[in-house]
Amino acid sequence: MAAGNRLMGEDLLPLVELASPEELAPLFTAADQVRRRMVGDAVHLRALIEFSNYCRANCLYCGLRRENRNLARYRLSLEEIEGLIAEAYRLGFGTVVLQSGEDLWYDADRMARLIRYAKSLGLAVTLSLGERSPEEVAYWRKEGADRYLLRHETANPALHRRLRPGRSLEGRVGLLRYLKELGYQIGAGFMVGLPGQEAADLVADLELLVELEADMVGIGPFIPHPDTPLAGAPGGRVLETVKMVALARLLLPEALIPATTALGSLDPYGRENALEAGANVVMPSLTPKAVRRQYALYPGRICLDETGEQCRACLEARLRRLGRTVATGPGHSLKWERRNRNG
Ligand code: 5AD
Ligand code: SF4
Repeated sequence: MAAGNRLMGEDLLPLVELASPEELAPLFTAADQVRRRMVGDAVHLRALIEFSNYCRANCLYCGLRRENRNLARYRLSLEEIEGLIAEAYRLGFGTVVLQSGEDLWYDADRMARLIRYAKSLGLAVTLSLGERSPEEVAYWRKEGADRYLLRHETANPALHRRLRPGRSLEGRVGLLRYLKELGYQIGAGFMVGLPGQEAADLVADLELLVELEADMVGIGPFIPHPDTPLAGAPGGRVLETVKMVALARLLLPEALIPATTALGSLDPYGRENALEAGANVVMPSLTPKAVRRQYALYPGRICLDETGEQCRACLEARLRRLGRTVATGPGHSLKWERRNRNG
């Protein structure tokens, strides 16, 4: 079924179509074994700082979309964000993820200040700021940013265009390739259960991850938000999503794959399920409690009342119960480290 030990496109469709827990169990076991062999039992914790919920984009699935007038918007000051970066350092995180909607208030220089501050503490810096200009991302890389998360969302070009007004898959993938050229570790990924998404589209999602040689892969269920045009859609399921996590692990054995908060929000053990089927990263939120519920990409988000410290402690306990450990150090992509070593 595989040519030269590699799953090919035509082999993927029947795997993507597996549906029953009985059929999926061996797939999850295989992904868990590949994860253990390739990246070990240590799970990387990333401190997530969601510093602004303003967004100029209008993605149909997302609660932060510009036309959602029911959302109270917030922007943290640079001083507040630096305070959170310092807290991440104090709590022992090796990486901060600076995430926001596409908010141009945080211009090239303001972001550069935050990047320099985090780097001065010895933290690895992941940016998750949406589609910003080539000049900006090049500048931030020069200032020390290590990684960039930009899920491709869906690899079906027509669906992509429909769900993301004014944007295209081509543009997004072009930016991902440019980020990689600049030397960023890149994170791609997609949602499972989008309205109109078919099995063949999920195959295309996996193939795109391989083609991009993604260092990081974010996969989560689509969860319909009541204040968006997709309010009435059915949304993605946990089992389907974990299946895609497992396939991503088999295709990209060394990738950094988070057990996403969206999975944890659909099911109290959603993240555990993913961690036992290929995932090796979790991203506890350090976003201040006062604004955390306003960072509402989707409804029903978990961990709204915990402090960053409590979040970290809870996750460490959950990992221990799974027999996993907490990784130390920056947790760079192994593939990226090799790319760099070879020139
Ligand atoms: N359900 C699940 N995930 C969502 N995202 C945005 N809206 C939703 C939703 N309704 C995801 C997108 C984006 C990431 C930050 O959150 O994939 O890239
Ligand atoms: Fe903005 Fe990202 Fe939400 Fe799209 S998914 S509306 S770009 S925050």
